[in-house]
Amino acid sequence: MLRKIMVTGACSNLGRSVVQLLEIQSNIEVVALAQDELDILDEEMVLLTVERLKPSTIINCAGFNDVAAAESRLATKLEVNTRGLCNLARAAAKFKVYLCSFSSKYVFNGKNSDPYDEDDDKWPLNQYGNSKHGGEEMVANQLENYLIIRSDLLYGGGGEDWVSRIKEELGAGRSLAVSDDFFIAPTYIGDLAAAAVALVSEWAAGVYHYTNDAGNGVSCYEFARTVAERAGLDSSLLKPTPMAEIDFGGPLNLPERAILGLDQFKKIFPSLVRPWQEALASYMG
Ligand SMILES: NC(=O)c1ccc[n+]([C@@H]2O[C@H](COP(=O)([O-])OP(=O)(O)OC[C@H]3O[C@@H](n4cnc5c(N)ncnc54)[C@H](OP(=O)(O)O)[C@@H]3O)[C@@H](O)[C@H]2O)c1
Repeated sequence: MLRKIMVTGACSNLGRSVVQLLEIQSNIEVVALAQDELDILDEEMVLLTVERLKPSTIINCAGFNDVAAAESRLATKLEVNTRGLCNLARAAAKFKVYLCSFSSKYVFNGKNSDPYDEDDDKWPLNQYGNSKHGGEEMVANQLENYLIIRSDLLYGGGGEDWVSRIKEELGAGRSLAVSDDFFIAPTYIGDLAAAAVALVSEWAAGVYHYTNDAGNGVSCYEFARTVAERAGLDSSLLKPTPMAEIDFGGPLNLPERAILGLDQFKKIFPSLVRPWQEALASYMG
């Protein structure tokens, strides 16, 4: 039977990858909606669209992800992570639709020395983390049949990202201060999209973590150095810098080592987890 999947925020970096993967599956009909086709902050339009299209599944790839900007001037844009997701959850509850959406490691405070399990205590340190945590709660409070996938720093997908920024700055001969005490599990967006499609195919429910495997985390500096070396750029232009000395345009609390544990995902799809170095190498060629 044909499964109808509605993708919101379909023009996001992640949305484009998800749509591409869904479109090659013969048993799936994809309806990809960019923001100008469905603004998820418009509650009435969300309800009308879900009623009209009658999808069995919604995959929400819309979001506001600028962690530094979220602290101040762009704070209202954060509503897409909370009220926008709440609108989708309300429509999903009304029309009995399975909803998948994406969250972030920023729901955690980064004080654990080991990777976080899905149900560890949430303790966001900044506005972005608050908005992702709030969105998760709104989904969980309204739905039983939902999937939340938390991830870490994404690259790839065609838009601007950390890899393109490093290449641009170093390529122009400019030095770049990069934190050596903020730890991440950098993740190729195509791998996250494949993981999401695999989970959605199984109607997986609840919260899952998915990143490329970085063990207990890699520093931003080490990641940037690896990007520079792979691109044949001068890695000495990268300046290892404590997070507290990096200019984010204002005060910003960051979770220094919020690494997402992958055990739950690995139990179902072990072959879809690969080391971050391998993912980066296959992306950069
Ligand atoms: N990027 C990361 O490092 C990262 C890490 C962990 C989790 N995530 C999560 O993964 C998801 C996708 O992230 P991404 O980096 O692919 O996003 P992205 O490229 O920054 O794109 C965000 C998209 O959301 C759309 N959007 C914003 N407000 C909207 C609204 N009211 N209605 C409908 N669409 C709206 C934007 O539309 P326009 O194109 O019209 O502006 C844009 O296409 C998000 O939930 C994000 O929190 C991202």
